[in-house]
Amino acid sequence: METNYHIPVLLKQSVDGMNIVPSGTYVDVTFGGGGHSCEILSRLGEGGRLLSFDQDEDAEQNIPADPHFTFVRSNFRYLHNFLRYHKVEAVDAILADLGVSSHHFDDSERGFSFRADGPLDMRMNKRAGITAADVVNGYEEERLANLFYLYGELKNSRKLASVLVKARSKEKISTIGQFLELVKPLFGREREKKELAKVFQALRIEVNQEMEALKEMLYAATEALRTGGRLVVITYHSLEDRIVKNIIKTGNVEGKAEKDFYGNVQTPFRAVNNKVIVADEEEVERNPRSRSAKLRIAEKI
Ligand SMILES: C[S@@+](CC[C@H](N)C(=O)[O-])C[C@H]1O[C@@H](n2cnc3c(N)ncnc32)[C@H](O)[C@@H]1O
Repeated sequence: METNYHIPVLLKQSVDGMNIVPSGTYVDVTFGGGGHSCEILSRLGEGGRLLSFDQDEDAEQNIPADPHFTFVRSNFRYLHNFLRYHKVEAVDAILADLGVSSHHFDDSERGFSFRADGPLDMRMNKRAGITAADVVNGYEEERLANLFYLYGELKNSRKLASVLVKARSKEKISTIGQFLELVKPLFGREREKKELAKVFQALRIEVNQEMEALKEMLYAATEALRTGGRLVVITYHSLEDRIVKNIIKTGNVEGKAEKDFYGNVQTPFRAVNNKVIVADEEEVERNPRSRSAKLRIAEKI
């Protein structure tokens, strides 16, 4: 296993939240460097089973040799289909540690980082889908502005879109370097890094259809969990956290509360923690990525 592939975030808190019993059936929908999966496996015994998903083939280098383990190289939006394929009927806990891994940022060929030049790609699954360059060069101006506003919460989303549309009419924008040259002048020096992180986040979410995949996975997870089973999710930005909070509180991703005859909100979950769990100072110092992590744990009722 490549040791610096990814440092797991909120490892103990999240795996403890899964309430693991040695003979249980578990799913980790975001295998990555396998940090959480290996911790889960260390708690399994006779009859225990772990299925882990990752849509990125690079994660395959981290697959552990363990008889209790099955790797599924797929987008987690197909959770339902793959559980059926692997004859899993009811799951005891499902873990999702969303977003990209450090490996994605470290490999400049993947185009996730603004710290190194490379192709404007950003696909987690290198074999399918559209690239960030396809989005930047192909989307209409209005659609581009909307995605920067919605997924990056950028105030100057319209200006950003208009600069890109003007530039691409002269020359295709294919590399991170070209892209940065165009967008950097729109931000003040002081806030440059923070704003660029938002621009890159917005493109990444669009390229990987992250919101759609998350919603589909959460519905499939709700269906797959047995009564008393646990849903454990680590998010890294407010858009993801809102969706997770909604499904726990209301049973749907929009957060539309439907009440029963007595006025109680009908939801398939009981929140185990009402306040999100965050990394302590020691973890943030050791692993700065954990700074924005929020952990929610819910029990299926
Ligand atoms: C934050 S990392 C997980 C790290 C992992 N928990 C560990 O300890 O190493 C997220 C991983 O999930 C994968 N991923 C993100 N969205 C996905 C999706 N929709 N379907 C499948 N895999 C996904 C990414 O490729 C990445 O490897």
